[in-house]
Amino acid sequence: MHTIIAIDGPAASGKSSVARKLARTIGFSYVNSGSFYRTATWYMLVRGVDVQNAGAVATAVKAGQFRSGFENGESFFEVDGQRANITDDAVNRSVSAVARVPAVREVVNAHLHALAGVADSIVEGRDIGSAVFPETPYKFYIDASPEVRQQRRSAQGQADEVAARDKQDSSRATAPLTIPEGSTVVDSTHLSIDQVVDTIVSALENRGLSPAP
Ligand code: CDP
Ligand code: CDP
Repeated sequence: MHTIIAIDGPAASGKSSVARKLARTIGFSYVNSGSFYRTATWYMLVRGVDVQNAGAVATAVKAGQFRSGFENGESFFEVDGQRANITDDAVNRSVSAVARVPAVREVVNAHLHALAGVADSIVEGRDIGSAVFPETPYKFYIDASPEVRQQRRSAQGQADEVAARDKQDSSRATAPLTIPEGSTVVDSTHLSIDQVVDTIVSALENRGLSPAP
């Protein structure tokens, strides 16, 4: 079994930037589970599926041929041989509705477990430490104030309303966004990406997990 480091947190808290940098620093692979949910959402949108209709979403996800793997140390996820435009504003608006559907989560989780069988990985998302890899001793929850997170996402040029997405992700029935038991919480409101990475590297070293030589 490979080592898994779980990083969870709300939208635009810095999970992707931190996980990617941390992965390079300690020689792990990087898995962006949000991109899997975004790919599933893009698939629904191009097929004209009503994302508010959970039954229709469940039926549609079973029809797709999803494939995952690693490329240059990072996960990829594709459907029917295609890579999605996952930062599209339409995807931002619909992804929480798609991600609440248990059939979608089953597909994504099967791929996350398969990838975890291939390489030591940093997996980031919403339910990684709480539901997908609850047995890992290495769990982090990155937070930042709602205002700073909205500023960060807007600065990326996206019309993404992070508070609306957080509300949906935190209140859903299946695997909601939550601070996993036993996780180390890092408030990044006033921290740079490098400072968050350094904080996590120190916490890992304290637990006996050292960067690759
Ligand atoms: O990058 P950002 O934090 O904005 O979002 P993301 O990590 O790409 O995740 C997009 C959406 O996928 C979230 O708003 C959740 O609805 C869903 N998601 C989830 O349900 N579970 C995960 N482990 C990861 C993402
Ligand atoms: O993956 P998640 O949505 O949590 O966040 P991200 O995509 O890694 O970060 C969103 C934006 O905030 C990016 O442009 C990062 O460069 C920026 N950021 C920052 O300025 N300071 C941090 N401590 C973390 C992220």
